[in-house]
Amino acid sequence: MKMGSNTAVVGLQWGDEGKGKIVDLLTAEHDYIVRYNGGANAGHTVVVDGKKYALHLIPSGILSPEKYCVIGNGVVVDPEKLLEEIESLEQRGVTVADNLKISDRAHVVMPYHKEHDAALEKVLSSSAGQTDKNLSIGTTKRGIGPAYADKVHRSLAIRMGDLLDPDHLRSKLRVICAIRTRELDALGLDTPPLDPTVLADSLLRMGEKLKPHIVDTVYTLHEAIDDGKTILFEGANACLLDIDHGTFPYVTSSNCSTLGIPSGTGIPGRNIDQVVGIMKAYTTRVGEGPFPTEELTETGDRIRERGNEYGTTTGRPRRCGWLDLVAVRYSAMICGTTSLACMLLDVLSTFDELKICTAYKLPDGTVTDRFIPDAHRLPSLTPIYETMPGWSEEITDATDRETLPPEARHYLERIEAITGLPIDIISVGPDRAQTVRSSPAAGAVG
Ligand code: GDP
Ligand code: IMO
Ligand code: MG
Repeated sequence: MKMGSNTAVVGLQWGDEGKGKIVDLLTAEHDYIVRYNGGANAGHTVVVDGKKYALHLIPSGILSPEKYCVIGNGVVVDPEKLLEEIESLEQRGVTVADNLKISDRAHVVMPYHKEHDAALEKVLSSSAGQTDKNLSIGTTKRGIGPAYADKVHRSLAIRMGDLLDPDHLRSKLRVICAIRTRELDALGLDTPPLDPTVLADSLLRMGEKLKPHIVDTVYTLHEAIDDGKTILFEGANACLLDIDHGTFPYVTSSNCSTLGIPSGTGIPGRNIDQVVGIMKAYTTRVGEGPFPTEELTETGDRIRERGNEYGTTTGRPRRCGWLDLVAVRYSAMICGTTSLACMLLDVLSTFDELKICTAYKLPDGTVTDRFIPDAHRLPSLTPIYETMPGWSEEITDATDRETLPPEARHYLERIEAITGLPIDIISVGPDRAQTVRSSPAAGAVG
């Protein structure tokens, strides 16, 4: 890892790869930690000295009080959830003051976005029999899709800066509430009409509390770069959930790959010096959508129990399966990944055999090593596996790559050989301390 440069941390699978842990770890080497996409659909866990923090909107660098955390313009902010998060961090002694900046251009997740998200999911899942596919996505119901839809739709969108402008907000909400009430009715929600005065009062109260944090973060970040400060970009969600490059339509509504960084922060791509791709040693997914290496077997259950694979945001059990390196290689390519962090390796201890998917067989019998980010075609592919021996001992106390069991080292070397990327970080437990950092020279390739 090069010191003194800007780094992106990005998930290479379907989320929950352990990005929060690595952002917290790399915070020490950067000055600004910046979220560029997503919203409170993210759940990033950081464990320090046995104390666990789950972050949803605030960057995972917040536990280091001398660093600046920035919520960029590409994030959709639920002010209610943000205030709850600030309060719960402060109650635990974490400072959230001048060290948190929020873009005045970040879009606001409104209460009606969350209602719309949940109502649409319900309508779609109850209409399952009418189509050959389940059209519900299994969203987190955090209002993410409707908030981004409003951003693209423009006229009905509210941005964080609007919470500081009472007249503008009130007049806009009068129009919005009338339209939104009709739309929610159409989705079968029998709720009372939205009251623009009540909504504006509540948003303005929240705006008042958040005012010290709301700034033009594009200038904040450019000035920081001009001053020689370094930036750590924290991806939320993951590349295979990217609206353009993921398994559409079973994706989220933002560019979660590193391609979202320039638009979501105002910092050009040439300022990103290195990209750490975060991958689990196996694969998980929450919600609907294709997952070629999913194990709907005892193996999947075993991974779930050993890895405690239950959602950080929704508590849902995560779907589990073998490592899909076709998918990881695709994501690594899109994200411009320069090194890998291999997470949760400890979960694979005690398996007799491990499998890595290296290619797919198409229905016509041909074999491809290309990922097909198309939810209609992906389920018809059969994974082709490389099988290798597992290891029996627990590795949660490992501090050095060389002292890992030979089978674990072999597993890592195969990942490096197949992806062509060095694994610079190996994670063997949730705690910040349970991390093995291999020097580039220790990697099989580089
Ligand atoms: P994120 O969304 O990418 O930040 O990941 P999440 O926090 O949603 O999920 C990762 C889960 O794995 C969290 O519960 C972490 O505490 C946990 N975790 C991270 N690294 C490791 C590891 O190496 N081993 C184990 N057993 N758990 C880990
Ligand atoms: P982190 O940052 C895992 C999934 C949801 C659903 C789909 C769309 O913790 O890795 P949305 O609410 O965004 O409209 O849901 O995307 N999803 C995630 N899955 N980790 C996440 O974030 C996710 N963010 C969204 O489960 O399938
Ligand atoms: Mg998560």
